[in-house]
Amino acid sequence: MSEASRSPIIAPSILAADFSCLDRELEAVSHADWIHVDVMDGHFVPNLSFGADVTKAVSRHTDKPLDVHLMIEDPERWVDSYINAGASCVIFHVEATEDPVSLARYLRSQGVRAGFSLRPGTAIEPYLPDLHEFDEVLVMSVEPGFGGQKFMPEQLEKVRTLRKEIDSRGLEVTIEIDGGISASTIAQAAEAGCDAYVAGSAVYKAEVPNDAVDELRALATL
Ligand code: DX5
Ligand code: ZN
Repeated sequence: MSEASRSPIIAPSILAADFSCLDRELEAVSHADWIHVDVMDGHFVPNLSFGADVTKAVSRHTDKPLDVHLMIEDPERWVDSYINAGASCVIFHVEATEDPVSLARYLRSQGVRAGFSLRPGTAIEPYLPDLHEFDEVLVMSVEPGFGGQKFMPEQLEKVRTLRKEIDSRGLEVTIEIDGGISASTIAQAAEAGCDAYVAGSAVYKAEVPNDAVDELRALATL
């Protein structure tokens, strides 16, 4: 299905939530489609967030699919803990593995969706031939590591390239954008061909997070 034929997927990132009351923070985004879980190891990115135990705790407090973004070195070593923690999609960085296709095949063999992500400085073209091995591509529109950064519109070029490739080959791959998504940037991401939108600060800094989720979905509906 091309992007136009499905309603926009809004995935609040709990990196921007209040970690002292994650159950309430998950409740606050009950209108969301997915929950985006930003795992950071302090090596692949210069920040440390949370790991599999928090991911497991999150899965106990929501029925929404967990979109787990691994910003970690050596993802092969750790993916099982996120599968066991209840991830519905595990997204690793192509810069952190020698063999993204084998890792994707392993994830799918374990019954979870396989996603890859790439830093703003990494080209998408080398990964197009293997797109059919994946269920999701997470295009970073900020340098990974922190929430609240400025949207990088030039990254939408990758989205346009992906949209063309996916539609021309009739693939079922979700294009998700991550970083600096807000009411003022989401429409251009939708125009470029995104299916799913991560939003951390735009949702959790809002007066009413669910209103922000509703507004983002409306703005992304073409
Ligand atoms: C950054 C993370 C993003 C970030 C999004 O490394 O991957 O998911 O939390 O936060 P905002 O929406 O505030 O840019
Ligand atoms: Zn993320």
